[in-house]
Amino acid sequence: MKKNILICIVFACLSCNAQKNSTKQTSKKADNYSHQLNVEKKVDSLLRLMTLEEKVGQMNQYTGFWDATGPTPKSGDQAAIKYEHLKKGLVGSMLNVKGVNQVKALQKIAVEETRLGIPLIFGFDVIHGYKTISPVPLAESASWDLEAIKKSAQNAAEEAAAAGINWTFAPMVDISRDARWGRVMEGAGEDPYLGSKIAIARVKGFQGEDLSSPKTIAACAKHFAAYGFPEAGREYNTVDIGTSTLYNIVFPPFKAATEAGVKTFMNAFNILNNIPATGSKFLQRDILKEEWGFNGFIVSDWGSIGEMVPHGYAENNKHAAELAAKAGSDMDMESNAYVKELANLVKEGKVEESLVDDAVKRILTVKFELGLFEDPYRYCNEKNEKQVVGKQEFQNDALDIAKKSIVLLKNENNLLPLKKEHQNIAVIGALGNDKTSPLGNWVLAGENGSAVSVLEGLKEYKGNSITYAEGAKVAIPSSKLHFTQELDINETDTSGFADAIALAKQSDIVVMVLGEHGLQSGEARSRTNIDLPGVQQELLEEVYKVNKNIVLVLTNGRPLAIPWASEHIPAIVEAWQLGTQSGNAIAQVLYGDYNPSGKLPMTFPRGVGQVPIFYNNKNTGRPNVEVREEVFKSRYIDEVNAPLYPFGYGLSYTTFSYKNLKINKINAREIKVSVDLTNTGTVKGKEVTQLYIHDKFASVVRPLKELKGFELIELEPKQTQTIAFTLTEKELGFYTNTGEFMVEPGTFNVFVGGSSNTTLSSEFILE
Ligand code: NOJ
Repeated sequence: MKKNILICIVFACLSCNAQKNSTKQTSKKADNYSHQLNVEKKVDSLLRLMTLEEKVGQMNQYTGFWDATGPTPKSGDQAAIKYEHLKKGLVGSMLNVKGVNQVKALQKIAVEETRLGIPLIFGFDVIHGYKTISPVPLAESASWDLEAIKKSAQNAAEEAAAAGINWTFAPMVDISRDARWGRVMEGAGEDPYLGSKIAIARVKGFQGEDLSSPKTIAACAKHFAAYGFPEAGREYNTVDIGTSTLYNIVFPPFKAATEAGVKTFMNAFNILNNIPATGSKFLQRDILKEEWGFNGFIVSDWGSIGEMVPHGYAENNKHAAELAAKAGSDMDMESNAYVKELANLVKEGKVEESLVDDAVKRILTVKFELGLFEDPYRYCNEKNEKQVVGKQEFQNDALDIAKKSIVLLKNENNLLPLKKEHQNIAVIGALGNDKTSPLGNWVLAGENGSAVSVLEGLKEYKGNSITYAEGAKVAIPSSKLHFTQELDINETDTSGFADAIALAKQSDIVVMVLGEHGLQSGEARSRTNIDLPGVQQELLEEVYKVNKNIVLVLTNGRPLAIPWASEHIPAIVEAWQLGTQSGNAIAQVLYGDYNPSGKLPMTFPRGVGQVPIFYNNKNTGRPNVEVREEVFKSRYIDEVNAPLYPFGYGLSYTTFSYKNLKINKINAREIKVSVDLTNTGTVKGKEVTQLYIHDKFASVVRPLKELKGFELIELEPKQTQTIAFTLTEKELGFYTNTGEFMVEPGTFNVFVGGSSNTTLSSEFILE
């Protein structure tokens, strides 16, 4: 029987090739269409041959359960059960399998030992690189450089594909306004417009033009939906938001990813308005598959089908499987609920087989598109793996985006850039000498200790004249750190202070590298304080007492509240966690060989009490928020409302001016906005010009500012360039509380500048 099927598939592939040759002359669109029809036919014929159990098997995903090239698991243990399932064709996908050897070994079982020989699809969390690690996604987003972001995803795809991976669980496109939530490091920040552009860049980077190329992998927009809005910023917590936020803030990047052709979605751990996202028919069938026409498949998050039981939504695992399948979750990641229960649910008439068929078709289609039927080992070439993984070109690109991700927050008296001669420089802080922390979280194939530290990066420039003192520990250092480990962030040891202070006294400039360890943000790393962890703040203040020439280099995966530093420290550089090339990128910026151009993708609060804080908020009925003489205003009695650093903010070693803001109506629903940008400083520099609108009154209240355009421009000193934006209905409209897209006539303000707090504005009336 198996042979017959294989023959069928081979035949289908041959006919696909023939088709390809005969249509060489036709347009690309027609070619795609006929290719799609071809895939559909193949999927349909394969589906007809599958038993119910085999279909359910395609919907089952297991994590790598033993060393695939090592001994076979013993009977009775979990791994052995999964191994048996694999041999019976009851597994459609695996995750966390690393390297060609292991992928090949498991694929061989699927292809050669199961009845139908359907290849597995191998998923992996390629979040910001595979082995060559790029900046954490929040950092990359600070570059506002869509080409560089796309390139970073493209390299990650090529590197992961060379190691046998077909599918990444990225990009995470969750918008979040809460810096307490550790996973903000994995997203694009707080804004749906920027988030959508970045979602598209990442999807296109991972998937390329041709999914069957061995250099591309399928992408996954996650976590659908609203995972970034957990109550109190606590991981996995309840999400209760209104439809306005859902449609206008949460959905746009997911919709953009769908339009960019993303092949898969992942649902989410959270409940949304009392329904688990994993069991939400509204999200998965009504919105995603029906309204947006998404034709890829949805994988559950890890165990999220089973988690509907503790959520209090499903009675037991079987009930959870029923609810998830009906809601449109196509693949079960590690709940073991589908593989155990779904066939019975169909036989008992509780779940219609057509729903299973639909899910399996979606999964098989992606496998066909990846070329896995044509050659299940197409991603499994050891020689290629050796040549591609970690290649120099990836390192160069990782350095490029690392530099672009750095945000200059403060630079009093031009303390920066540092001078290459006659400056005695001390580096202080455990993070300055750390070669693992800069990799950040979600590093599953990258190696501990593989990043260039700040100390190493600076020494490259100045030789060994750079001195170093640890000062304060951040977390227990260990070469064996793993992302499943919990880190103690309440380090109290001040024994290193004396050496650090002594060193600071003898130095011209102190570069203090402080912040969070790479594993202090990420999944399950929520914090109630978002200050400098441990005794780092104390260290900073002590060093400041003896030397005020401090350059504070922050490394962190979330916005930090650093009001004291912001007031006292003359120079502050936001360097996030920048990946493998971290120290080199920081050194180039500190020495002025790269002029920083990053802008914050997320607001930095003054204190955790302001959180959630974001730029695109609405007016209250009492908007004069900072007028202190009046009591009954919408403000705090102990703090101003304004953030420490707003969304879109970032300085440069040069300065820019904006003039001649002009508005021209092209037609009733098309507005052209232009502005002259001049580099008014003395060095070449890049600026992200941002355009915001405010719909002054509408049938549903609109935010005070909404980003609707941006341009990244490089200018020589004294050079001026006119930058033009076009606003159409797409930018001027909004979603109502019932999810309809509306464009309403009325007065709009337009703001243009280098940050969300820009005041340069004009207005127009939309008819
Ligand atoms: C759980 C995370 O929420 C998800 O983003 C990730 O892809 C899976 N684990 C698999 O590692």
